[in-house]
Amino acid sequence: MNKTEPLILGIESSCDETSAAVIRGNKILANVISSQRIHDSFGGVVPELASRAHQQQIVHVVNQALNEAKVQKKDLHAVAYTNGPGLMGSLLVGSSFAKSFAYSLGIPTIEVNHMHAHIMAHFGTRDGIDTRFPEFPFLCLTVSGGHTQILLVESYLKVTVLGETQDDAVGEAFDKIAKYIGLPYPGGPLVDKLAKDGDPQAFRFPKPKVPGYGFSFSGLKTSVLYFIQKQLALEPDFLELKKSDLCASVQKTIVDILMDKLKLASNNTNVNRVALAGGVAANSSLRTAVSSERGWTTFIPPMELCTDNAAMVALAGYYKWQNSKLGRLDSSPFARFNEM
Ligand code: KG4
Ligand code: ZN
Repeated sequence: MNKTEPLILGIESSCDETSAAVIRGNKILANVISSQRIHDSFGGVVPELASRAHQQQIVHVVNQALNEAKVQKKDLHAVAYTNGPGLMGSLLVGSSFAKSFAYSLGIPTIEVNHMHAHIMAHFGTRDGIDTRFPEFPFLCLTVSGGHTQILLVESYLKVTVLGETQDDAVGEAFDKIAKYIGLPYPGGPLVDKLAKDGDPQAFRFPKPKVPGYGFSFSGLKTSVLYFIQKQLALEPDFLELKKSDLCASVQKTIVDILMDKLKLASNNTNVNRVALAGGVAANSSLRTAVSSERGWTTFIPPMELCTDNAAMVALAGYYKWQNSKLGRLDSSPFARFNEM
């Protein structure tokens, strides 16, 4: 570890994870993630409850990260925080905390775009983990609860959006379909788990016809809902009997949709280095599909760095720091994605 590298505290609070991390250079020293379980029974994140839970957690999470990293506040060089996109109330908790914390220490802030942070999860090292960084340029499929994007990444800071979803994000589709099946929030990991015992060919669902690198998942969601309603009318135990087959078939359809567009982007750009990022990158079927594609060199972050975490925020902050892109105390968080 190079002691001349900056020590950066990262803070993530854009949705339902309160997380703080400490890195030195690109080395992750601590990454503490507190997932809010308060939303589980509501079938989705309740924004007001999320902001309150962030407020309750943030001080503990930051202290824990500093303790685990064996770093004192006075030794920090900057505080990187998620400035958007995300839930406004939740972002405000993280950004206000980050700004006041940095101000009190007399150090700069670094504003981080959450979608950029997901990509930067590929560029961290940790003790005991052999890390292989993607070479530029590479394609990145960023799939989370709020976004679905195919990106061309040409350098740490030069990222072009080739295509994105026109409606629901892929994680949102997983979660809503899981809800129709009767699974609690967040349903994505449960669909993945149940799919392991199911037949992916059991049921067929239509794939949307979206031009270019665009995606759409709302049609799939509706067709699964109608299909379940129809089957339940014929067979009241349908969900109990066929849950795994249904999960496997839905998951296969989603993975096929994502893979079709990734292959198109790789063919058209001649870029065969392909990375996954975001919470849905934890999906086992997607990981297998991407890594088994012939001719591709693939990069998939460890599970903990796929779902929301502050290490990726700190890493994005580090690469911005290297380019002297520091934050301002008068900046405001933004809810919707516009550019990287
Ligand atoms: O990136 P993330 O942690 O938060 C956002 O920025 O949205 O992604 C969360 C999403 C949720 O929709 C969750 O259901 C989904 O990632 N997810 C999965 C899996 N693990 C998490 N979806 C499918 N399969 C998984 N194994
Ligand atoms: Zn995310």
